Amino acid sequence: MSILETKNLTRLFGTFTAVDGLDITIERGEIFALLGPNGAGKSTVIKMLTTLLPPTSGDAFINGFSIKTQTNEIRKIIGYVPQMISADGSLTGYENLSLFAKLYDIPRNQRKERIKEAINFMGLADSAYKLVKEYSGGMIRRLEIAQSTLHRPPILFLDEPTTGLDPIGRNTVWEHISALQKQYSTTIVMTTHLMEEADGICNRVALMARGKLSAIGTPEGLKASIGKEGATLEDVFIHYTADNLGESGSNFRNVSIERKTTGRLG
Ligand SMILES: Nc1ncnc2c1ncn2[C@@H]1O[C@H](COP(=O)(O)OP(=O)(O)O)[C@@H](O)[C@H]1O
Ligand SMILES: [Mg+2]
Repeated sequence: MSILETKNLTRLFGTFTAVDGLDITIERGEIFALLGPNGAGKSTVIKMLTTLLPPTSGDAFINGFSIKTQTNEIRKIIGYVPQMISADGSLTGYENLSLFAKLYDIPRNQRKERIKEAINFMGLADSAYKLVKEYSGGMIRRLEIAQSTLHRPPILFLDEPTTGLDPIGRNTVWEHISALQKQYSTTIVMTTHLMEEADGICNRVALMARGKLSAIGTPEGLKASIGKEGATLEDVFIHYTADNLGESGSNFRNVSIERKTTGRLG
């Protein structure tokens, strides 16, 4: 059985269709990314899969449990790092983790050990007793990952985990996400609008535009499929969404051109 399967997953806001009939299957142990420009519907998908937002129609199954009718079962087996910062800046890293250990009902006699392991695993041993408001962006993200995996969920959802981080912060976050997959076989489902970034780390990616799935596959397979020498995932995205670009797509194209130009100049 696949760890996650969506069936015609759909969400409307009023008359606007934010997620339109999504059919995706994710296998155990994959690092899987939902890619697409702002407004594509990525966060809405993650919110439905984490039971925070009910679908308008369709369903999804995690370990066979329905996100519609078995939300309690699902909440026990998932971890979730939201797009917005969720750690408490006025507490230390250790204190934040303690709160989550209680929230997840980790037995009292295992809490200390579990927290220590998470701190070491996420490379936060030197700063565990500092206030989180002193942390860098990358450290906060790693703390949030530690928090949301204390109960050792088989699947972890991360919404834009590296947006806003500098390159060093981004790399340390990626390294630790990879380590979770290797060490604990955690299935990782994440979103990003940074295409180049997903290329290096993800086993498979799904490209989303305007609520619809436009292509899915391995980064290598997708790049090979468009018949262009030296294709990037951005080329793949533009290729598969050409019919469906509309406003968000052309913005995305402009943004990526700008970014390249800035990179050359800087
Ligand atoms: N609570 C909401 N009410 C109305 N519209 C929403 C709501 N949440 C998201 N949307 C709209 O749905 C679309 C997809 O949003 P979102 O899933 O956040 O995209 P992404 O994460 O890919 O940037 C956007 O057009 C957004 O404005
Ligand atoms: Mg989002």
